[in-house]
Amino acid sequence: MSNKTNQQWGGRFTEPTDAFVARFTASVEFDKRLYKHDIQGSIAHARMLAKVGVLTEQERDDILRGLGEIRIEIERGEFEWSIELEDVHMNIEAALTRKIGITGKKLHTGRSRNDQVATDIRLYLREETDLILDEISRLQQGLLDLAEREADTIMPGFTHLQTAQPVTFGHHLLAWFEMLSRDHERFSDCRKRINIMPLGAAALAGTTYPIDRHYTAELMEFTAPANNSLDAVSDRDFAIEFCAASSVLLMHMTRMSEELVLWTSAQFGFINLPDRFCTGSSIMPQKKNPDVPELVRGKSGRVYGHLMSLLTLMKSQPLAYNKDNQEDKEPLFDTVDTVKGCLRAFGDMVPALESRKMVMREAALRGFSTATDLADYLVRKGVAFRDAHEIVGLSVAYGIKTSQDLGEMALEELQQFSSVIDADVFEVLTLEGSVAARNHIGGTAPQQVRQAVARGRELLAGRE
Ligand code: ARG
Repeated sequence: MSNKTNQQWGGRFTEPTDAFVARFTASVEFDKRLYKHDIQGSIAHARMLAKVGVLTEQERDDILRGLGEIRIEIERGEFEWSIELEDVHMNIEAALTRKIGITGKKLHTGRSRNDQVATDIRLYLREETDLILDEISRLQQGLLDLAEREADTIMPGFTHLQTAQPVTFGHHLLAWFEMLSRDHERFSDCRKRINIMPLGAAALAGTTYPIDRHYTAELMEFTAPANNSLDAVSDRDFAIEFCAASSVLLMHMTRMSEELVLWTSAQFGFINLPDRFCTGSSIMPQKKNPDVPELVRGKSGRVYGHLMSLLTLMKSQPLAYNKDNQEDKEPLFDTVDTVKGCLRAFGDMVPALESRKMVMREAALRGFSTATDLADYLVRKGVAFRDAHEIVGLSVAYGIKTSQDLGEMALEELQQFSSVIDADVFEVLTLEGSVAARNHIGGTAPQQVRQAVARGRELLAGRE
């Protein structure tokens, strides 16, 4: 073969690749990240080939030894990656041949880079998905612990970011827990479709060798070989799903972030984030900025962007493999890194946040947060709800005029608006009375928070 052309596929070429084109089409700079999975896939493939008699046991053992050594060299940083060899697959294969000679050239029997790369990404993404699932669980664990400590803490609940009704802080935190439970389900579900093995599809049509795909799948702990070779080498829907699950997770995390940013502001002052999760300003000495939640909020942008990239990348691609698919890796890798980083930061930070109970309580006392409780009280005394709504509305208007909350008014003042009001009204106008009264499944009462925490703990225990 002419040494002017590519060693792996240069047979039919009469001139070398243009230097810029070689760099432009190469993926090794980023896909070398898949080296471990590429080697894992090659080991399974070689074992299968030996099992069905395409390789001898000696050849298999030489290949396994060579691949093992290459892995160590890569991990020690001693491996020389070459752009001329395009991608991680050809770099490793060429190194194997340098190491063990002609047997190295037999590894690619019955295989193509098309099914190889599809297998590598799935192995990679399965591993990362498992780490992400664990990180979601860790954050959820932190939320349960915090919610339990804050089961009795009262804060204003908001709609339209206006004070609505008092809630317990624990209940609020458990709303986040629920979002994350669904995120966990989405990633677990996505994992099922990641865990299907393309190997054996070869370039697109399968191979003429007597391969045993069930055996290869078993070796790599895939649920099953992919049903259709054309589909197996071409679709990246599993990566799109992963980015979709990541986008929803990040969306949830932006909601949490937004609240953390608001709550740490001087205007709210509901919580304190330990200094180690914050940074200062180079000009304003008084500043302590909630950088971590702000950054997580901002990082949602790139994750949504990667979802769009992959959807667009896959759109209109004819069967089967197209080089477009090489572009799947950077968005996917960055999504994985971003999601893991955000989860790690939150998993460390959220359990460490300190609530400022008095500030929360004061805030709940302002803004007529027990107005609905007064209306419900009137209904229990026989007033129709619409009339009760009107009576409370008038009481609130009076409170605004006289600068007092409902609970601060004298009984006579309240009675101006309805004669059915008695001294027992103050039981419902207190914050504690208000939250304790919402004592049903899904409600904000401290007792319900404790029960929800117990259910949450069972859920997490069931995942192990
Ligand atoms: N580097 C390629 C990718 O990432 C590997 C498969 C290339 N196959 C091919 N026939 N050019 O998708």
